[in-house]
Amino acid sequence: MAHEALNKKTFKLNTGASIPAIGLGTWQSAPGEVGKAVEAALRAGYRHIDTAAAYGNEKEVGQGIKASGVPRSEIFLTTKLNNPDHKRAAAALDDSLKALGTDYLDLYLMHWPCSSDPSDMKKVYSDWDYVDTWHSMQKLVDTGKVKAIGVSNFGITHLERLLKDPNTTTVPAVNQIELHPGNPSPKLVAYNASKGIHSSGYSPLGSSDSPLSNNETLKSIAESKGRSVAQVLLAWGIQKGWSVLPKSVTPSRVEANFALDGWSLTDDEIAKIDAVPDRFKVCTDGWIPIQVFFGDDE
Ligand SMILES: NC(=O)c1ccc[n+]([C@@H]2O[C@H](COP(=O)([O-])OP(=O)(O)OC[C@H]3O[C@@H](n4cnc5c(N)ncnc54)[C@H](OP(=O)(O)O)[C@@H]3O)[C@@H](O)[C@H]2O)c1
Repeated sequence: MAHEALNKKTFKLNTGASIPAIGLGTWQSAPGEVGKAVEAALRAGYRHIDTAAAYGNEKEVGQGIKASGVPRSEIFLTTKLNNPDHKRAAAALDDSLKALGTDYLDLYLMHWPCSSDPSDMKKVYSDWDYVDTWHSMQKLVDTGKVKAIGVSNFGITHLERLLKDPNTTTVPAVNQIELHPGNPSPKLVAYNASKGIHSSGYSPLGSSDSPLSNNETLKSIAESKGRSVAQVLLAWGIQKGWSVLPKSVTPSRVEANFALDGWSLTDDEIAKIDAVPDRFKVCTDGWIPIQVFFGDDE
């Protein structure tokens, strides 16, 4: 039976646009490396790049896109609104577009449901929060500078409050959240789907020094398939129904992470990975002024 090529797969957003199943992550991709990683990814076939104003690398990401020679129109480009910019979403978007050297984004995400006060980053505004931010982001779609808007690090309670607000007219196209076998969040993924919100999985490999690389279940599945643990993790995410955003600045890994054609996981292998019991989280909220995580799924 022919396998569907996982690296050519796309998911439909509630805007009607398609998001490629694999996107290159760029968090912690150092200056001098990230541009080359973006270029290598696009040359290897990636058509989806994930960055953020907070990563401080939008300019070099834009340079990598140009250097690849791949037309902008073929690339799905995401960046994110930084926490201290919640009251200036339109201006922050312009800053990001300028840095990236493009005149539109495919997806603009609110990075966190946290409106940090730039005059004191230990505080959030008293007269503004993420629902207000969303309402200013809604206006950005009409400018043509963003094709879709979404959120990141939102739990069910954040989304419920956002969606029931009378001024909310746009349902987020995407909720970008931490998703790997150590943080599988099935209730949140199901909630996103029930509202027509695509889940996009960050830290799909478990991030730097990932404990998943030594997991016996993953190692044995990888060995039996002649694939790497990283490839098995990416296939698992895509087959579960979310896009995956593996980060690498190592060209051989960038390429290997895209080599997901001609094979896939069986239902039994997916069930075994689902049953991996160890829980861990890469991203925490201790560095921002409010709590946003209330457990894997809430
Ligand atoms: N919205 C958010 O708040 C948020 C939070 C976290 C992440 N993200 C996004 O999601 C992306 C991915 O998450 P992440 O960067 O935390 O971690 P990740 O993609 O799960 O893992 C990246 C780490 O795995 C290594 N790696 C990559 N491919 C490998 C392979 N084939 N074999 C072995 N090791 C490999 C990388 O090393 P090298 O680079 O040295 O090769 C790096 O140390 C981010 O870059 C960012 O775009 C978003």
